[in-house]
Amino acid sequence: MLGNFIYANPTKLYFGEDSKAHLAEAIKGFGNNVLLTYGGGSIKRNGIYDDVMAVLKDAGKNVVELPGVMPNPTLEKVMEGVKVARENNIDLILAVGGGSTIDYSKAVAVAANYEGDAWQTFWVEQQEPSVDAKILPVGAVLTMAGTGSEMNGGSVITNEPIKMKIGKVFDERVMPKFAILNPRYTFTVPYNQMVAGIFDTMSHIMEQYFSGDDDSTSDYLAEGLMRSVIASSKVAVKDPENYEARSNIMWSATWALNTLIGEGKTQDWMVHMIGHAISAFTHATHGMTLAGVSVAYYRHVMKYAVKRFARFAKVVWEIPVEGKTEEELANAGIDALAEWIKEIGAASNISSLGVTSDIIEGIANATIDLPGGYHHLSHEEIVEILKESL
Ligand code: NZQ
Ligand code: ZN
Repeated sequence: MLGNFIYANPTKLYFGEDSKAHLAEAIKGFGNNVLLTYGGGSIKRNGIYDDVMAVLKDAGKNVVELPGVMPNPTLEKVMEGVKVARENNIDLILAVGGGSTIDYSKAVAVAANYEGDAWQTFWVEQQEPSVDAKILPVGAVLTMAGTGSEMNGGSVITNEPIKMKIGKVFDERVMPKFAILNPRYTFTVPYNQMVAGIFDTMSHIMEQYFSGDDDSTSDYLAEGLMRSVIASSKVAVKDPENYEARSNIMWSATWALNTLIGEGKTQDWMVHMIGHAISAFTHATHGMTLAGVSVAYYRHVMKYAVKRFARFAKVVWEIPVEGKTEEELANAGIDALAEWIKEIGAASNISSLGVTSDIIEGIANATIDLPGGYHHLSHEEIVEILKESL
């Protein structure tokens, strides 16, 4: 562990199929005015809304509902939430949904008491809220596994008119105060969203794993998580209601991106930067954009870190070492990743997500450049990777 870091994670987790019983205790201590944020209505169809409302009513809370948070939430929707939060003197934002609803709630939490231009300050300039900023507390009832938003400070927002999707990772003041993680709540997630969430989880781990070359505990943790995600995904795609597999996926997703496995490391995140730009242009599902570009991306950077890719093949995919050069082994690991993408039904290319040759230049221009991985991509290389992914 050669890096220096400070680690703090204030999110209290309630995990398991009985975890909903803890919601009443989790919301105690917050004021009476609760802003209930949710998406397009799945929680009304699967009963989660009723579960949550019953607890809120029992606790005597004033509930203000804010439905309609879309996948890849927009700045325009955030500003609507800010208005509602201000008008109703909100004390707690309770996000019931997946990453979009939770990310959205964090954005509203930060912007509600901010007088300036929140998009410019926090997303474009990546500033931290001031020390005396009044940030509304957020709690989460997670309904879909994948983003890790339930235990991190990430908030990814799309500015539609300018086609920019930008993530801001806030500090622990913005991380959810609590999260209810009930794997059974994820059983109604549509199959393709389940798969997108699985790939998103794997991608989060890879983004943190493919960087640095010191011997780091973080990488061993990452390998364990990847092995668990792969094993459980193979069960879940055949048997989506397998509680053991879905609960492992949920728990892995949380630990994949709650800052733990990135400690002490530089990190890559270029697959995400390209994926976000694709979503800004096509509205494609986040996890699928990552699957669509990962294989081309990793083939591209592999030559700059053959050792790490060979280790990935051997440890994560259990590919026999005998008779292979380090480079052959490294390539075999990426082949295994490509096979797995097909096996679970994630996107093998980006044409299937609505990307066409004429928008590739725009997507490459909208891709935020991060230098933390094994190779710093040029604009031309991003274009090449996108073309190879079509
Ligand atoms: O809108 P509703 O009706 O809730 O339906 C949602 C939505 O259509 C549905 N769904 C969720 N739980 C369900 C369910 N349907 C039936 N039963 C359930 N139990 O699934 C669809 C997708 O939901 P969404 O919240 O958009 O998915 P996800 O959790 O993948 O979140 C994606 C967003 O998170 C951002 C992404 O960029 C994207 O905007 N990310 C956030 C990160 C973070 N906070 O750290 C990191 C990630 O890399 C990612 O960028
Ligand atoms: Zn992601």
